[in-house]
Amino acid sequence: MDKLLVSGPSKLAGKVSISRAKNAYLPILAAVILSDKPIHLVNIPDLQDIKTMIKLLTMLGVDVSVNGNVTTFNAKNLKSHEATYDLVKTMRASIFVLGPLLARLNKAKVSLPGGCAIGTRPIDIHLENLEKMGARIELEAGYVEAHVDQFKPVHITLSFPSVGATENLMMAAVFTKGETIIENAALEPEIDDLANFLNAMGAKVSGIGTSKLHVHGVDSLKEVTYEAIGDRIEASTYLMAAIATNSEIEITDVNPEHLDFVIDTLKKMGAKIETADKTIKVFKHEKLKGCNIDTAPFPGFPTDAQAQLLALCCVIDAGSIVTENIFENRFMHVPELVRLGADIKLKGNTAFISGGRPLKSAPVMCTDLRASAALIIAALAATGETEIQRIYHLDRGYEKLEQKLIGLGANVRRVKGN
Ligand code: EPU
Repeated sequence: MDKLLVSGPSKLAGKVSISRAKNAYLPILAAVILSDKPIHLVNIPDLQDIKTMIKLLTMLGVDVSVNGNVTTFNAKNLKSHEATYDLVKTMRASIFVLGPLLARLNKAKVSLPGGCAIGTRPIDIHLENLEKMGARIELEAGYVEAHVDQFKPVHITLSFPSVGATENLMMAAVFTKGETIIENAALEPEIDDLANFLNAMGAKVSGIGTSKLHVHGVDSLKEVTYEAIGDRIEASTYLMAAIATNSEIEITDVNPEHLDFVIDTLKKMGAKIETADKTIKVFKHEKLKGCNIDTAPFPGFPTDAQAQLLALCCVIDAGSIVTENIFENRFMHVPELVRLGADIKLKGNTAFISGGRPLKSAPVMCTDLRASAALIIAALAATGETEIQRIYHLDRGYEKLEQKLIGLGANVRRVKGN
């Protein structure tokens, strides 16, 4: 297994270009199934989760060809409606193919994703609303087996604004005759991006950017070229790495409005940040203050940036409180940060960070994607060479991580394992 050696304390400088968002491209890739026309996707990030989704599409019969930074998908000859356990167990986002398969082939068999490191992550909101739309669903030997004759245009209200359920249901409704309304829809920028992509393909989704989405059924879709939005969580990670090391960097190719809450929080803590179109500049700061933050669905503070914020809080000379409200088990970075010298107490879903303890290198282990990002931030701020093990978690969500960090002047080295 590869590991990363990070020597600190680092000073970062220069520019970093943000990749297209993994969490935007995963549902967009699933939406490819809806169309029998070519779909050209630009700058798909080179990440493990994206490779897994493309492998799944290939197994379903989607043709995939790569030409430079454009990948072309053609789902004209879909031959399967089944997403097997082998693939789904490695990536929960495989569940996104459920809605599109039903819309296109009237049937789908998708392995139940099961839990994952950050929580149990049920899919009940996906399933109960697909049923309200007219699907017949059975759970059989670990699989969701779903059939539909014709989806009905219904008005559904989600019991929680689940990102994945909103995406699955929006894709499922694309061909439904009449108007499907999805209320209490998630507001994350990746939802808008999927809706914009579907519309570029010829679908009719309105209410984009609100919690009430309207999907008017269309008969067919057309050829399209599309590029997803920049990755707001990758950008948040570099932003917090710069602040934790009191560095000046420029983060490009991301919409700063997608990070409003994160930037506001960091500014309130004393960080000096300026934003312009697609650019975020971080400057050196004086003394930072602690924070009291609760994660929440967008536009609140993102759960996907909680671990990175917590790492930043460790190097501030003040106390902070961070509460995780989205996933029940998303504090696995805490014991690893403690190994680096941090003083953090956990009480239920709240972390109390004393701050101001000097971080020192130690061997640490990645447990999930964002927990790993937190370890990188802490290691950049810590004194000495930190060995970060199991970095395959990082390879799921951070494109060219070492190259980007080295480009910013960090002393980072990957050691290849078996
Ligand atoms: N939930 C249910 N039932 C459902 C669906 C969700 O109880 O049917 C619960 C989940 O268990 C969780 C909460 O609702 O406690 C939020 O889940 P949601 O469905 O909103 O999240 P998701 O679609 O599974 C996406 C991202 C996550 C990100 C969350 C929240 C993708 C591929 N994944 O997951 O990204 O944390 O939204 O913003 O888009 C990551 O990138 O590290 C990551 C985990």
